Amino acid sequence: MSAAQMFPAIKVTTHVLQEMKLKEEKIAMLTCYDYSMARIVDNAGIDVILVGDSASNVMAGYTTTLPITLDMMIYHASSVMRAVKRALVVVDLPFGTYQGNSKEALNSAIRIMKESGANSIKMEGGIEVTESIDRILTAGIPVMGHLGLTPQSIHKFGTYVVRATEEDEAQKLIKDAHALEEAGCFAIVLEKIPARLAEIVTSEIKIPTIGIGAGSYVDGQVLVFHDMLGITQDFSPRFLRRYHNLKEEIKGSVQAYIRDVKSSDFPNEKEQY
Ligand code: KIV
Repeated sequence: MSAAQMFPAIKVTTHVLQEMKLKEEKIAMLTCYDYSMARIVDNAGIDVILVGDSASNVMAGYTTTLPITLDMMIYHASSVMRAVKRALVVVDLPFGTYQGNSKEALNSAIRIMKESGANSIKMEGGIEVTESIDRILTAGIPVMGHLGLTPQSIHKFGTYVVRATEEDEAQKLIKDAHALEEAGCFAIVLEKIPARLAEIVTSEIKIPTIGIGAGSYVDGQVLVFHDMLGITQDFSPRFLRRYHNLKEEIKGSVQAYIRDVKSSDFPNEKEQY
């Protein structure tokens, strides 16, 4: 039985995640963007909730994560925060709100913390964002890093294929992971990289690594909520395990409701005043 299941009331902090790495207890993280789902996910005992900028895709219907704004992220994050009692909540700094300079990054991070009440922020990138991380940390805001496939740079890479398969990119990723650790990140997401590379990074750095498409030799896993429940079914990467076929279940329930309304079966005598 995990610490999370044994002590469900204890609030997860960045220090708890560090202890979990030391104890080799895996960290379970999921994305969430709204109050109702966050309540269920938190109550189920998840360790970390990521209010990811994947909200741009799954909530707003954009094809990339680039269009989502700071105001939209704050809206999602504050909805989640009203529900969460136990999980550590991490919020993505959206594209264009931190790359300009470290002052801009700090202001964006402060807005998220102040207006949503979240516990920490996440930002994509390696050595190039360490100055911003340093500045954000001076304001007492914990930062999670994100390396490998970084969806905010999709137009630079051109595809969502697995990253760092070549030696030079793999070496850069290892250097970046060390730089993020030295800058003071409390954890790093490793997205869509070879399992062996994720294993090397995980063994070389002291902070937890959270993988998505990075194999099992990492300190934890993250999936997008709508993908793991089978609500979104437009893509099926190898790393995605679907725990439900909610798209079909929801469709079936909506069709049953339509049938009941059309046939005047709903409402029946017990369902009226
Ligand atoms: O926005 C997001 O959902 C993410 C995860 C894929 C790690 O960054």
